[in-house]
Parts: sequence; C-alpha cells; structure tokens
Amino acid sequence: MRESKRLTADGIHELVKAAIEARRKSYSPYSHYQVGAALLTADGQIIRGCNIENAAYGPSNCAERTAFFKAVSEGMREFEAIAIVGSPEGEEVTQYAYPCGVCRQVMREFCEPSQFQIIVAKSEEDYRVMTLAELLPEGFGPENLRWQ
Ligand code: THU
Repeated sequence: MRESKRLTADGIHELVKAAIEARRKSYSPYSHYQVGAALLTADGQIIRGCNIENAAYGPSNCAERTAFFKAVSEGMREFEAIAIVGSPEGEEVTQYAYPCGVCRQVMREFCEPSQFQIIVAKSEEDYRVMTLAELLPEGFGPENLRWQ
C-alpha cells in the first residue's frame, strides 16, 4: 500500500486557499450554495473544482466530483488530500462543509480510505482534517469486485 505523505501546515493552507478560490467559480443559481474543492495529487498538483448546477437539477455536480473528474480525465489516479469549503452565496464561510455521500463514494474509488485526507475548512487557519475511512467506514470499493 502506498504511504500517504503527511501534509504540513503550509501544505494545508495552500490547499484551503485553492479551495476558497475555486468556490468563487461556483455555478449555483438554484441553491445559491457555493462550494469549492482543491484536490492534491500524489505528484503535488492541485486540481480545483466547484459545484455546477443545472436547470434540470439532476445533472448538477458537486465541487469534489468536479475536481476528481477533471483530474482522472487528465490521467491522474493517485491522490493525497482534498480541501473543501462551502457556504451560501454572499456569506462568510461559517460552517465546515462535509462531502456528500456520493462524493465520498467517488473518493473511495481512487483513494486508500485510511490514507486519503479530507480537510473541511472555514478559513486557512480554521479547518478539520479527517481520513476517508472516518467519513466512509466499511465502504464498498473496487477490491470487492476482484475475486482472488
Ligand atoms: N454540494 C457540493 O458541491 N458538495 C457537497 O459535498 C455537498 C453539496 C453542492 C451541490 C449543490 O450545487 C449545492 O451544494 C447544494 O446542495
């Protein structure tokens, strides 16, 4: 199993800053809830994502999945961490925005649950770090479909 690098405080600040910037790109005219995510790849790249809503509602995409799908579609498959910030449009970020269940499952596809770090932040200084295993215990993943 690949060991995850421990993020430094500076590394976390940089990732949260990128998520705050990504949130500004949110397209959320229906919920007016803006989310930004910044995904750190194993080779140190930061891939940003925002939520993208749709008039038909169903096709809306969360910020975390936007970041994952951008990264995977560019050939990246190994990830260390993701920072997430979310709050209603026009408001300060006052709550931690935890990833929805669908996004947790998408993370499960590409990340080792005990290693992948999820950072929910209110600011660069105020954040919580958890692992995917804490947010999605006993999940179903690709190894369940490999019968040997
Ligand atoms: N949203 C995210 O971007 N990430 C989550 O993990 C939870 C929800 C978005 C989806 C929708 O555009 C808005 O927040 C309100 O649900």
